Amino acid sequence: MKIVSIVGARPQFIKLAPLSTELRKKGINEIILHTGQHYDDNMNEIFFKELEISEPDYNLGIGSGFHGEQTGRMLMGIEKILIKEKPDLVIVYGDTNSTLAGALATSKLHIPLAHVEAGLRSFNKKMPEEINRIVADHLSDILFCPTETAVENLKNEGILKGVYLVGDIMFDALMHFLKLSQEKSRILEELNLTPKSYLLLTIHRAENTDNVERLKSILSALGESGKNIIFPIHPRTKNRIREFGLENYLTSNIRVIAPVGYLDMLELEKNAYAILTDSGGVQKEAFWLKVPCITLREETEWVETVKYKWNILVGANKDKILEALDNIREGENVNFDSIYAAPKMCEILLRELKNRRE
Ligand code: UD1
Ligand code: UDP
Repeated sequence: MKIVSIVGARPQFIKLAPLSTELRKKGINEIILHTGQHYDDNMNEIFFKELEISEPDYNLGIGSGFHGEQTGRMLMGIEKILIKEKPDLVIVYGDTNSTLAGALATSKLHIPLAHVEAGLRSFNKKMPEEINRIVADHLSDILFCPTETAVENLKNEGILKGVYLVGDIMFDALMHFLKLSQEKSRILEELNLTPKSYLLLTIHRAENTDNVERLKSILSALGESGKNIIFPIHPRTKNRIREFGLENYLTSNIRVIAPVGYLDMLELEKNAYAILTDSGGVQKEAFWLKVPCITLREETEWVETVKYKWNILVGANKDKILEALDNIREGENVNFDSIYAAPKMCEILLRELKNRRE
């Protein structure tokens, strides 16, 4: 049995790691197709090395570009490889342009398609990710949902067939690599930080980085707070700050560092006294690690994090950010079942493929 996994961006490498391990354990011939959407060493290679993911069999080297151009070039490259490899199934992950191109190319070739992290919705179609996930879900034959909310969202769009509630693959990754990060990461020493003495910040959503007013408002709130902030900066955000001439908003309390690998990131998240972010993955990791999170967005797909009061949505509003920073508190006690998604996904894939053959 041959499966092609299509990835391209940082969070997809993290989602790929546990499932790839499981597929290979079951003797499945897995081909990794990397679109090349993320390419800097600290956005790409470090994850393959640290998470011990096999070298991609193909890297299309697409890189950055406008949505249409980037997605179109991916589509052409993926199609060629799928025609050559003739897999029994393709897996796409999350909601990036690599997900969209992978889903389109696969379904046009009538190859069964599985979507990991199906059913998430922000109900904000201005987000490129929302468009990508809606299309991927509607094209998929097998939909792996991380939450009950995701199953419900699919039901509301009339998607009932092939839907499986399997848990969150990022939880598998977190559980697997947490111990390793504690053993291996030296990031706190390197940055001369003591546990719970700093806030961790990530910003990369287009709605925040590409809107000068929002970016200015977020950075000025953080500057005014005077809090000790560690900021592993996404290349998109770094570029925009330079293009908009906002460097002087990075005040001395905000310590900008290069993007870090997953092991260092887990160590930074776990030891932060709170996290400020617009990332999907980071909101969830804060929740699982029981670190209060302030989300720089108006809405979230991960509604459970808000429901249990570990996450608060403040958008880019300066007053709301400052108020949230003055009122950091822990949420409700939640017990996370140690149920792993990857083995369940693998079992379902094997069963579905067997049924299709018969
Ligand atoms: C993408 C995803 C987003 C995901 C994020 C994870 C889309 C539409 N967006 O956003 O859903 O949350 O990845 O991090 O697919 N750049 C570099 N080096 C790199 C990668 C990017 O310099 O290795 C810079 C380029 O200037 C590029 C910009 O970052 O134009 C944006 O990169 P892109 O992949 O288009 O989108 P992300 O913002 O990374
Ligand atoms: N992450 C990382 N290093 C960083 C920033 C993030 O390893 O410098 C990890 C983070 O722990 C999470 C994932 O990348 O597992 C989230 O990716 P990102 O925020 O880029 O995308 P999103 O989840 O919003 O799609």
